[in-house]
Amino acid sequence: MKGTLLRFLTLASAVAVLGATYGTVSIKFPTFNVPFKPGPGQDVTIANCRTCHSAAYVYTQPPLTKAQWTAEVIKMRNAYKAPIADADVPTIADYLVTQNGKQ
Ligand code: HEC
Repeated sequence: MKGTLLRFLTLASAVAVLGATYGTVSIKFPTFNVPFKPGPGQDVTIANCRTCHSAAYVYTQPPLTKAQWTAEVIKMRNAYKAPIADADVPTIADYLVTQNGKQ
């Protein structure tokens, strides 16, 4: 037990020293792989949103109304050039309300 801890500490400090030397300390961001949960419109949303980022941004927002989610989808299109078809916008907004919405 003690040996294991010692080996871990040795390894951890070796990694820290290497990181400090080469500037390559890696940090894990748990938000990278947050999936879009099942629901009507999930497929369309994955197809349109998952190309750039995970669903983390959706689930970490405060609950939004359909109008606010619609504006958010349009923002992705205008600000970040997401190629989202007009016909898909309401489907995605409806889905987002079921995931993290309010009236
Ligand atoms: C072309 C790439 C791209 C696509 C596709 C995309 N986004 Fe984004 N999204 C971004 C970028 C870039 C940010 C800002 C990241 C940051 O500020 O760290 C962002 C941020 C967000 C945020 C955080 C709030 C904000 O306004 O910055 C939400 C919510 C979001 N996206 C939802 C969506 C949804 C829903 C879709 C699908 C309809 C989508 N995104 C598709 C690039 C994209």
